[in-house]
Formats: sequence, C-alpha cells, structure tokens
Amino acid sequence: MTTNTETAGLFQPTELGPLHLPNRLVMAPMTRTRAGADGVPRPIMAEYYAQRAGAGLIIAEAATPNRVGRTYANIPAVHAPEHVAGWRTVTGAVAEAGGRMFLQLQHGGRIGHPENSGLHPVAPSPIAFPEPVHTPRGLLEAVVPRELTAAEIRQTVADFAAAARNAVEAGFAGVEVHGANGYLLHQFLARNTNRRTDAYGGPVANRIRLVAEVVRAVAAEIGPERVGLRVSPGFTGQGMDEGDTAEIYRALIGELAGDGLGYLHVAFADPEDAVFRELRETWPGTLIANPALGWGRPLPEDGGRAAAERLLAAGADLISFGRGFLANPDLVERLRTGAPLNPLRDGQMHRGDAEGYTDYPALSGRLAGQPG
Ligand SMILES: Cc1cc2nc3c(=O)[nH]c(=O)nc-3n(C[C@H](O)[C@H](O)[C@H](O)COP(=O)(O)O)c2cc1C
Repeated sequence: MTTNTETAGLFQPTELGPLHLPNRLVMAPMTRTRAGADGVPRPIMAEYYAQRAGAGLIIAEAATPNRVGRTYANIPAVHAPEHVAGWRTVTGAVAEAGGRMFLQLQHGGRIGHPENSGLHPVAPSPIAFPEPVHTPRGLLEAVVPRELTAAEIRQTVADFAAAARNAVEAGFAGVEVHGANGYLLHQFLARNTNRRTDAYGGPVANRIRLVAEVVRAVAAEIGPERVGLRVSPGFTGQGMDEGDTAEIYRALIGELAGDGLGYLHVAFADPEDAVFRELRETWPGTLIANPALGWGRPLPEDGGRAAAERLLAAGADLISFGRGFLANPDLVERLRTGAPLNPLRDGQMHRGDAEGYTDYPALSGRLAGQPG
C-alpha cells in the first residue's frame, strides 16, 4: 500500500473467524432499554439494528443470561425461549439488510435492584454500588448485594454458557462476554469489589478465575471463534477501583491468549496507554479497540476518525464506536466521505421509544430495513 494505510484500513474488508466483514468499523454494545418488561426484544429493535447494518460488525446491547443478573428495567435477556424468538426477528432483519451481529452477555452483579429483577442482587462480596440505580420508580439507593456462594458461581457459569447457546440459536454469529465497565465479571477482577477469601478472591490469579471460567464455558458451548471478551482496564466509573490494573490484565490475557477466541475488545482504549500496548503485544488474535473519545463531551468533529486511525496504527484490528453509531445509522458512509455527523440527543439514550432511537436520519434519506 502506498498512501495512508491507516485511513484506507478502516474501510478495508477483513475476516473475523468465519465472518467476512466489509469494513473494520464495529458498532459497540449500547444498552437502550427498549425491550419489553419481560426482557423480550421488541420489533423496533429489529428496525434500529437493521438501520445500522452497514457496520462491519454489530455487537448488540447487553443481554442478561439469567434473572438475577438483570441491571435495569427494559433491558433484553437471553435465557428463555421467548427471548430467543424475539432476538431471531432482530438478527433476521440485520441479515436481510446485509449485516452481521454478536450479542453481548452481561450479568449486572451489584448493579441491579429488586425493583428491576424481582430478586436481590448478587456479587462477589456484599459491597453496595455507591450510586443510585435507575428503576421504574425512579432513582433508588442501591442495596447491599448478597455474596455469591460456590454453587451459585457454578450456576452463573452454566447460565452464561446456556445464554450463548440461545444467542446462536437466535441467529447471532457469536457472543461477547462483558468483563468491563463495573458489572459482575469486572467486580470479580477488581480489588475494591472482591473481598472473597475463597478461590475466586484475593490474589490476581484468583480474581481472574471467574472471567476465565465463563469465557471457557461459553467457548466450549459454541466454539471459541464465536466468543469475544470485553475488558476496560483502569476503568474508574461505576465505583470501580481495580487496584492492580496491569497485573490483572497481564494475568487474564496470558491465561486466555492460547484459547483461539474470536476477539478481545478493549473499551475506552488509548494507544499511548502501557496496558493497552501490552495487551496488543500479548493478545495473538483480533483486537477491537473502542477509542476513548471523552465521556460526557460532544463527539469530535471528525466522528473519532483520527482517534481510530491512531489505534489502528498501534495495532488494533477493528475499531468500535458507540455514540457515533447511535446517532448515525450510516456512520460508516459518513466517516468514509467526511460528511458531518448528526448531533447526539443525550436525553433519549435510555428513554423513549422511536424518539432518539430509530428517528436519526441517514444522509441518503433512506434507511436500511425500510422499503426503498
Ligand atoms: C447509551 C449507551 C449505552 C451503553 N451500553 C453499554 C453496554 O450495554 N455494554 C457495554 O459494554 N458498553 C456500553 N456502553 C459503552 C459503549 O459501548 C462505548 O464503550 C462508549 O459509548 C464509548 O464509545 P463512544 O465514545 O464511541 O461512544 C454504552 C454507551 C452508551 C452511550
């Protein structure tokens, strides 16, 4: 290649295991709370994702593998036949529009509320989430979670594996295990949320155990090439303080590097960060990097393209964007042509129905999934 390989790279086709991706842009998982109260995906979700089928890969929003893992009201689930049926409509619409999808599997751990799941939240240790939790009755103080027993840990691992099987039956090409952003698996990794004294707590070698067990159980169920893992090294939102970030991810990635997994997805990635660089050096497979664009700030004018190119130059294989895809169904086309992005409507990320969801316009005035 003779000119600007990084720029061309974003729009170059590539392979992800058995999947052919038409470009290297990935839609990051985003919880949009538009599912039914029972966690069943609704038809409007099929429309939303089909509109975004131009992404090289869509990673659909966090879905819960069991009832107790439910974080918020109206997030989707994937542990019952009616969930599988609902998701099949979504994957079918995306496939018809020419796209490919993984599903993120998330257990909320201490981030949850009896008002949302009907059950008392469980976590590595009885340490409450320090922020109020969104519930149908408004923001409520978080409850102190119950410590998972050894038998419940085994059941949780089995629930992830069963949910992965369900996801594949629902038409997903694979699943992403959510080990990031302060939810259950991250709570096991971090020192401030894991005070266990059994084989799952204490030294780093123990704190990575549950994540490794979940990933391996899921891989055994659906095949390692269909499994991604999302991590967020150094993430300090949602009350997280990992303590020994470099050591945790060195151990975790060292443990899983030889398993032939589909990908590793690094949230809020910074190409200058030493942990990111080490992960890239030691992870032999596909690395998806989600550029750290600045949370709570408007998206950069170039839509994050310069940040994406820096990460590609630092060795990332694929680049994921969240809010860019949320507000721009045709984000790939806009980035390719340098067209301006739609502004994000903040208040509608987790609220509303079609508003702020399926009503963001495409440049062409036509959206995938709609009659032309
Ligand atoms: C509305 C919204 C919901 C999100 N939900 C999830 C989620 O379900 N799982 C997850 O791993 N990250 C979630 N994220 C984080 C995004 O995947 C992404 O890491 C973040 O938005 C930063 O990327 P961006 O700057 O391109 O938006 C969410 C972000 C937003 C804006």
